[in-house]
Amino acid sequence: MEIVILPTAADVGRAAAGLIAAVVANRSDAVIGLATGSSPQGIYRDLARRVEAGELSFALARGFALDEYVGIPLEHPESYARIIARDVVEPLGFDPSRVQVPDGRASDLDLAAKQYEADILDAGGIDIQILGIGTNGHIGFNEPTSSFASRTRIKTLALRTREDNARFFASPDEVPTHCMTQGLGTILDARALVLVAQGEQKADAIAAAVEGPLSAFVPASALQLHEHATIVVDEAAASRLQLTDYYRYTYDHKPEWQRTR
Ligand code: GLP
Repeated sequence: MEIVILPTAADVGRAAAGLIAAVVANRSDAVIGLATGSSPQGIYRDLARRVEAGELSFALARGFALDEYVGIPLEHPESYARIIARDVVEPLGFDPSRVQVPDGRASDLDLAAKQYEADILDAGGIDIQILGIGTNGHIGFNEPTSSFASRTRIKTLALRTREDNARFFASPDEVPTHCMTQGLGTILDARALVLVAQGEQKADAIAAAVEGPLSAFVPASALQLHEHATIVVDEAAASRLQLTDYYRYTYDHKPEWQRTR
């Protein structure tokens, strides 16, 4: 794992966007794993800026969202299908037909989850997966005790996740109870992972994921199993890490050839 600690949330977005941009610059038809939530918004803003400046194009790229609520109407402003269309597909200029979101409205949800896995495989697998982290250590919607071998499936949302996400809905009761999410096994199959976190409210989750034991109780600790995972955090999200001097030293002394991978 590489831990990158940067002064501000804006720096986090810019640096993580740089990792995505490098993948797309190298392969215009790259497959990008897309996260929702507030954490990756800075990444999308920075990528949109690069697209607008003519530095980058997502026209041939493919996208697979991490997760979706079950039973939420497609047109609901908080459906992840809507959010991905609004915050990613449009501003980055993806071809909408090349971006998929798990179908939380399918009549056969198990079948839809299996089909999603098959579609990712058919696309050649995910080249780089963007991730946020929940305050309880979840990634995607893989709540604590999710199996490290899990694939795309239906999950029950943790109470804490529903409370955290209530800010996006008119009332806490409106937050769906279930979701369809890529599994931890699905996420670990991506060729590269980039997880971003900002703010003090993520500090415990980041410390547990990065420096705690490998545990299904902290789903983000699964990143310790990946050979190419980068965790980009601001000072506040890094505030409970122990080895910060080492992470900073490593990043500051990175040879140029490693920076441009
Ligand atoms: C959400 C999403 C996750 C996200 C996490 C943190 O519910 N399902 O993909 O990473 O919880 O959200 P935020 O970035 O808004 O803090």
